[in-house]
Amino acid sequence: MTSLKQILTDIVAEAFEACGIDKKYGAVEVSTRREMADYQCNGALAAAKPYKMNPRQIGEQVMSKLQESSADIFSEISLAGPGFINLRLNNDWLANRVQSVAADESGRFGVEPVADPKMIILDYGGPNVAKPLHVGHVRTGIIGESLKRLSRFLGHEVLSDIHMGDWGLPIGQIIVEMEDRDFDRVYFDADYTGPYPEDPPVSVQELAEIYPTASGKSKVDEEFRARAQKATSELQEGRPGYRALWQHFMTVSVADLKKNYGSLQVEYDLWLGEADVNDLINPMVDQLKKDGFAYLSDGAIIIDVKDDADKKEMEPLMVVRSNGAVGYEATDMATIVQRVRDYDPDFVWYVVDGRQQHHFKKVFRAVYKSGIANPDKVSLEHTYNGTINGPDGKPFKTRDGGVMSLQVLVEMVIDKARQRLAEIDSTAQYSAEEQEDIAQKVGIAALKFSDLVNHRTGDYIFDLERFSSFEGRTGPYLLYAAVRNQSILRKAAEEGLAAGTILPPAGDEERELQLKLLELPDLLDFAFDQRAPNHLCDYAYNLAIAFNRFYRAHHILNEEDAAQQASWLGLAQLTVDVLKHVLYLLGISVPERM
Ligand code: ARG
Repeated sequence: MTSLKQILTDIVAEAFEACGIDKKYGAVEVSTRREMADYQCNGALAAAKPYKMNPRQIGEQVMSKLQESSADIFSEISLAGPGFINLRLNNDWLANRVQSVAADESGRFGVEPVADPKMIILDYGGPNVAKPLHVGHVRTGIIGESLKRLSRFLGHEVLSDIHMGDWGLPIGQIIVEMEDRDFDRVYFDADYTGPYPEDPPVSVQELAEIYPTASGKSKVDEEFRARAQKATSELQEGRPGYRALWQHFMTVSVADLKKNYGSLQVEYDLWLGEADVNDLINPMVDQLKKDGFAYLSDGAIIIDVKDDADKKEMEPLMVVRSNGAVGYEATDMATIVQRVRDYDPDFVWYVVDGRQQHHFKKVFRAVYKSGIANPDKVSLEHTYNGTINGPDGKPFKTRDGGVMSLQVLVEMVIDKARQRLAEIDSTAQYSAEEQEDIAQKVGIAALKFSDLVNHRTGDYIFDLERFSSFEGRTGPYLLYAAVRNQSILRKAAEEGLAAGTILPPAGDEERELQLKLLELPDLLDFAFDQRAPNHLCDYAYNLAIAFNRFYRAHHILNEEDAAQQASWLGLAQLTVDVLKHVLYLLGISVPERM
């Protein structure tokens, strides 16, 4: 089914054409003033100048064409102000559309899969091995997950990749620190080549302590740093003991990442990382040198990435450092080599902190310039995110000023949800297991919705009280709205009442709800184009509000007219299905009851 906006645009465009005016002026938008119109077209104003006509005169002509062609669709066509064409849908026509969406059992709610599916690689999360996930990994994970679900639902082919930071200096630092702490010698003895113990010599908890110590030492102790750098290059070159250690780090970290991102329902198709492109780096560097893009400078291999239009200085990108180690830029470039080779994507979206904009600018320039990626074939986009801040406006910290781990943050929101649910005392009669499941869902919804409701590029302040409230634009409110709607339907079913054909709206509240339901396809397209899940949040909230108003205006369960009652039940069912689906696209699950 085509989107409503598209259908109306086609109709109005045809009317413009019939008046001898280019049909591009026929674009129709949802009206922001529902008391005036459902949809409106502002094309007469834009066409006035090129056609040297008065906009109202164009409007009059288009209107009379519309009256001829589409009297069955519109109940009212009017001209407002300097030439806005206002359209109000005929109630029968409106209800028919809603009914056909409700009758469609494919679970697509009137959203057609895109005609031209794209291949999209979504790079998000980007945790660093051996470092616990922290608050900085929350946004990238949940925004990326939502973009994945949205794109996939629209019919695109999507692969999500966690792209672990598993190959740089931090690993070298940990290796040296472990050597100094007398971990099993087999890993550090250059003459020993295996076999190595099967059990990991460290746990994630230990790594979480070892890494910051090592990185702290590296900052102040020059000798330590030099050893860590050397260990990093040796690891990258394949020293067996270091590779064996690295493998252990990966095993324990990946298990921990799966658990922690799993608790947020953030899931990946590919568990690749920087290390996976190690073998692509040398051939890439050779090619870059051969083609004259990379050259030696002070012992390092660099690529110029400045552009004539740059206002600020743009330093060259360092592919290989003078000590032979390859860094973040090189692995990101080689990852593009690999992605283009293996997946031939149309898009690569990097949902990564906005503070890395400069890094991506350089990497994208280098790969486009050198032909590693063809700008006409693949669009590399840093779909960046802002930070979660504390009340001081700086990245959110623990009470004592430490790094807030993701696990602690998740526990905090779930605790708060338990407390809130206990206060309203609505779940006490359920089993302990169900209560816990509800608390988890409410907590995760609180965290995710409050994050996603902000445009991804902005920062926001973490406010647990507000995020976990059952009122306002919050995850818990939306869960509550969906659950309440579900319970109405359950009650109806118990009374033997079933949903039926959706009838023309019985009042403004119902009309608004029907119109809202038909906005879904356009809304999803828009969120996709903007790479911005916050539009889904706004939609979910507005849909819940529209349902509330409708529900207050009509007593569904007491209605005496059976056809009317069945119609309202059908509308309630469609609303809860759409609401739950939009929440699903946000990565939020709804409990059966709460
Ligand atoms: N590991 C990186 C960091 O913590 C993020 C990786 C993001 N993805 C990428 N392809 N660079 O900063």
